[in-house]
Amino acid sequence: MIRNIFLTFATLVVALGAGGVFAKGGDPKAGFDKSALCHGCHGEKGEAIAPNFPNLASQKPGYIMKQVTDFQKNHRYNDTMSPMAATVVDMQDLKDIAAYFSTQKPMKAMIPGSDKKLINSGKKIFEEGNPATGLYGCVNCHGKDGRGKSQTNQIFPVIGGQNKDYLVQQLTDFRSGTRKNDPAGMMGDIAKRLSDKELDAVSEYLSSL
Ligand code: HEC
Ligand code: HEC
Repeated sequence: MIRNIFLTFATLVVALGAGGVFAKGGDPKAGFDKSALCHGCHGEKGEAIAPNFPNLASQKPGYIMKQVTDFQKNHRYNDTMSPMAATVVDMQDLKDIAAYFSTQKPMKAMIPGSDKKLINSGKKIFEEGNPATGLYGCVNCHGKDGRGKSQTNQIFPVIGGQNKDYLVQQLTDFRSGTRKNDPAGMMGDIAKRLSDKELDAVSEYLSSL
């Protein structure tokens, strides 16, 4: 089952890559000025100003662009963020903004995870998943330390060093189906296999990186 999904997904990754989710041609310098509005919540250097807001620093540019576009098309919805996404009308502006945030230094959680026991069990879930429930290890898609894959694969977001409150919210939303803008329902399938305890532990671990 998991293997099948993964194969389907691999095909999809190729299709998306060909379709140009991979961001090219963004100018980080121009992106600094163009992202002034975003700094109010995501920070001047992409370090969010509140633990329930996502860090954008070092995030994959193609992933940033996809999310903003998804908010614009209502494929992802948030009371606060959706109206912000609507202000970015020009594709070149979006490329420049994504280039700016993606080239900032690696993201770090505002309140880093510190519960050793929880971190250790979260690390195990991240790396090995849970064979008993068919949960696939996160590392397979999100890369070592949750830093994503190569620069040419921008489908999998950076999640290592992300804020815990934000991570818990996203995983809960994927699990309930409130957020369903993930390609092929991939993250939803993963999140539905997470128990409350596992969800908390893996988020604590990721925010400690
Ligand atoms: C008033 C606060 C606020 C401002 C200003 C703001 N955002 Fe956001 N942004 C949020 C919140 C809150 C979320 C999380 C939404 C959710 O939980 O679904 C978010 C999510 C995002 C995400 C998804 C991150 C991820 O890891 O999936 C991106 C990308 C993003 N914002 C880009 C931008 C850009 C670009 C701008 C400027 C044009 C901007 N935001 C301005 C509050 C803000
Ligand atoms: C089969 C691949 C795959 C696996 C395994 C996987 N993910 Fe994901 N994940 C994705 C994709 C693709 C996205 C981006 C969805 C989108 O485009 O909106 C994502 C998004 C996320 C997000 C939202 C990030 C953000 O910034 O909003 C979180 C959090 C997350 N995954 C956590 C996990 C955790 C924790 C695990 C392990 C329990 C895991 N993922 C396993 C593919 C995967």
